[in-house]
Order: sequence, then structure tokens, then C-alpha cells
Amino acid sequence: MEHQQAGNEGATLSQRGRSFIKPKNVIEQAFDECSKNGYDPKKNPTGIINLGVSANGVMFDVLKDKITETGFFDSCTIDHFNYFGGMDDTSHAMAAFLMKYAGSVKPIKRENVVVMNGLTTIVHCLAQVICDEGEGILIPTPLYAGFISDLNVQANVSICPVHLSSEKGTDGTAFQLTVALLEKGLSEAQEKGVKVRGLFITTPHNPLGCIYTKKELLSFMEFCKRHGLHFVSDEIYLTTIFGAGKQAVSALSIEENPLDDDHFHVLYGISKDFAANGVRIGGLVSWSDSVVKSMNSLLTFNQTSGLACYVFSKLLLDEKWLEEVFFPTNRRRLLELYEYTAQFLDTIESVSYIPTATGLYVWCDFRKVLDEPTFEAESELNRRMMKAGVALNPGGGFWCKEPGWFRLVFATHKEYLKEAFDRLRGVLST
Ligand SMILES: Cc1ncc(COP(=O)(O)O)c(C=O)c1O
Repeated sequence: MEHQQAGNEGATLSQRGRSFIKPKNVIEQAFDECSKNGYDPKKNPTGIINLGVSANGVMFDVLKDKITETGFFDSCTIDHFNYFGGMDDTSHAMAAFLMKYAGSVKPIKRENVVVMNGLTTIVHCLAQVICDEGEGILIPTPLYAGFISDLNVQANVSICPVHLSSEKGTDGTAFQLTVALLEKGLSEAQEKGVKVRGLFITTPHNPLGCIYTKKELLSFMEFCKRHGLHFVSDEIYLTTIFGAGKQAVSALSIEENPLDDDHFHVLYGISKDFAANGVRIGGLVSWSDSVVKSMNSLLTFNQTSGLACYVFSKLLLDEKWLEEVFFPTNRRRLLELYEYTAQFLDTIESVSYIPTATGLYVWCDFRKVLDEPTFEAESELNRRMMKAGVALNPGGGFWCKEPGWFRLVFATHKEYLKEAFDRLRGVLST
């Protein structure tokens, strides 16, 4: 076991217990500071405005109206342990939802969906189900930062980075993922002696916001097939699309999928699409009996609450409300906030960004603002932003190879954004 220990701390713990004690990374530290001293225009006007955490803060009113409707809770049964029933309803609802919104070419039945308390838990359990300790998973970087602890902390699985570059690729976009880069990442990991077991992708991507095309997804699947790797597609932002005419392509919708059931895994959760990070529901779609059985053995420790299951099983199945109320309102609000953010960024000469049509954030290029192209300079800029009362997440936390990139989350109230942008302008003008 490759345990890192933090000094003498936890001397009375098991070796494993000690290995869980790790210093907080830059993103976790910023989150702590924002929690202790969060901005509130009336109660704490000098607090920090959090544009770091990927949360949708503008849909609570719509959710509240729905779940407080008369009759919503009429048949709620929360009197049994959840793994004897409640999560079954959520598996069924998520299966039906993904058949429609992911356009699955293969029928998804309730027994193909394992539901746990968030995608974080699903990733952490799936990593243990498909990898032994010390084995590795390929992940393109910049990556979703949560994967670091999901894979490392208990599963003790290594992330084998596939570094992407901001140089425009053959498709004219920055940070393009290609099979050639996947091959390179795989060889580099193997040269270090790591046994690579799979590839994780996110689409729509966090933090880049890109959507992989069908052709790209197929090429990633074929790469996995060639090397006997598990293919894992995290689609937690599946319906968080606000750009006109844009749609995510789910790996579930690919007819030519060359992978067998044991190597193909799709992840979905409600945290982003339903503005519900705090509810804790995530699911794995799998047609592999052994994967499902193995994951189900871990369910006892990772159940989600019956109340959460009740509410979201109903919402996931309420097509009329989704189509007529929730999705259009969400899209309209996110588009307005994104455009407001883009307009602000357009006025700052030293900062550019990758235009996006998905997600809750923009991937911004602050490289020209750094005193020198180093991660120390990136941290220094981050400190200056925090001091001025605005938190973005620096690219180092996402394992971006080039210092100077930051993720800016815009899915918050416009007045908060306005204040945050005034503060950022102040930082950039000094
Ligand atoms: C790509 C991605 N996967 C998984 C998660 C974790 O989601 P959950 O809240 O369901 O644990 C997040 C949350 O930020 C995410 O962005």
C-alpha cells in the first residue's frame, strides 16, 4: 500500500486510518474559507463570493414550488431501510430518464442502475470494483478535481494523467482530447510500472465545458477495447446545456459501441442537472451482472435517504414539468448568466476564455496576468483574488499542466456576479 502519512499525526490510528489524513488541496482550502466567511449582501457584505464550487444556485425557487405542491408527499413511504425499496424506485426513475434524455440504444431496466448517495460515492466504489490498489485510471487533464480524492483516498487507485494542451487541435479547439494523446498517456503510465485498468471521461466536460462528438466517443471506446480497458463516461451535466441547438451526446446512445458489458459504465447524478448538490443521489448504469452485484454489496454503507429518493424519483419521471417548467427555466437562466459573464470577460483585455454552451462555469485564461508562468504565480493570483473577496478555482487544482487557468462558476445570482466582477476588476487593475 502506498500510504502517505502526515507527520506524526494519528499515531494511535491504523496505518489505513493515518493514510486518510491528508492536507487539504487548494480547492478544499478555498471552500473552507468561503464557508466560514461567505458573502451575503446584507449580513456579510465583505465576505467572499464563491465562484469556485460547481453548484447551480438559481433554481431553488422552481424546485421548491414543485415539491411543496399539494399532494406531492401524499404517498411517501420512508419507513423501511432504503436498500429494500426506495432506491429501487430511483433506479427505475433514473433508467426511464436516461432512456429518454441520453437516448440509450439499449433498454435500461431498474436492475441496470445502482443508486448511491452521490456520484462521488459511485466513483469511489466503482474504482474499487474495477481496480486493485495501486492500479491506475487514465484521466484527461484538466480533470474534475473530485476524482482525485474519489480514486485516491480509500480506493488507493492512481490517476494516470493524459495532459491536454491549450494549443488549438485539429478540430480548432483548445484542450482537444485525441486517441494519440490517450496512447501517450497509457505508455507513460506503463513505463512507470502502473497497471492501467480504465479511462474516465466527463461529457459535457468539467471544467472545459466541451461536449464530445459521437465520432470522438467511439474512438475513445475503440481505444479502450484495443487495450482491454474499462470505459467510464461521467455524464452528470447531461442536460445542463444552454447554448441554442446544442445537445450532449451520451455514450449510451452510440449504436456502434464496441465494448462488452463488463467494460462499459455510464455515470449520472442529479447534483448538477437538478441544482441539487446537497441531496446526494448518483447512479451507475451497467449491464454487467458482476459489476452490479459487486456495487450492490457496497450499497449498505452508501444508501441515500428515503426522502431524497422519494422526491427525485417523482421529479425524474415528471416529463411535463421537466419539459414545460424546469428545463426551459434552467436553460434561460443559465444562458443569461453565461452571457453576462462573457460580456464582463470580454471587457478585460488580459483575460480570455473558452466559449461554452454547457455546465455551470467558464474555463478562463489568466496566463497574461501572471508575473511568471509558474504555479507559484498562479497561487499568488489566487491569494489576491481571495483577499479581494472573490474565489475562483485555480487550474493547478484540476491538474491543468499550464499555470494561469481558472474555473469561474457563473450559476449564481446576478447581483452576486456583478459584485464579484467589480472585485475581480480591482484585482486585475493592480
Ligand atoms: C464531473 C463530476 N462528476 C461527479 C461529481 C460529483 O457529484 P455528486 O454531487 O453526485 O457527488 C461532480 C461534482 O462536481 C462532477 O462535476
